[in-house]
Amino acid sequence: MEKADKHIFPVFNKILKRSDKEKFLNQKSKVIWLTGLSGSGKTTIAKGVERELYKRGFICQVLDGDNIRAGINNNLGFSIEDRLENIRRISEVSKLFIHCGIITINSFISPTEKIRKMAVDIIGRENFIGVFINAPVSVCEQRDIKGLYKKARAGEIKNFTGVNAPYEPPENPDIEVNTGRLSAADSVQKIIDYIIPHITLKPEEDQK
Ligand code: ADX
Repeated sequence: MEKADKHIFPVFNKILKRSDKEKFLNQKSKVIWLTGLSGSGKTTIAKGVERELYKRGFICQVLDGDNIRAGINNNLGFSIEDRLENIRRISEVSKLFIHCGIITINSFISPTEKIRKMAVDIIGRENFIGVFINAPVSVCEQRDIKGLYKKARAGEIKNFTGVNAPYEPPENPDIEVNTGRLSAADSVQKIIDYIIPHITLKPEEDQK
């Protein structure tokens, strides 16, 4: 009798694996997730970390709240449900990058433990490095680079994080940088020092 699988050609053994792509790029892919208030310095630090890693031969993609909300998530607002959906989609996108061997630097307020736990569950704890960009509301409000705190205080923006919507500081971040005290350069350096060993492909892993 003819074998049932005679005309079936499985491709699974031919599809490139994450480890093949990591080897090609000579790096281990991770999601570096920055949480913090608007104006805490997340975007500045994300850009700085990307530049420093690039200099050292690592390839990254920055995913940032304002950019993502102008594109893939342009149908979402700032209710707790929409923030959850925002972070869910970003987490799924990050997972695709992970499987491509690419490091993502995610810069989102991601204001609650529940939201961040969902991100960790989707991405996988082993792939996730949580960074708390810690600056008090008073400091962020004083900077008010986008003028949003002023508008929120004037009642022109509803649900503004830190003013009339909650921000729960993460309890156990892998890294915490206090941008009220540290310079942007020192904050970037602290993150770089922590993550380099986690994204460096070790020789034995290179053999796989
Ligand atoms: S999150 O809460 O869903 O993680 P995200 O990081 O994507 O937020 O977007 C935050 C950015 O949107 C802020 O940096 C700010 O520029 C802008 N923004 C507009 N309205 C709000 C609001 N109500 N609360 C917080 N940020 C807002």
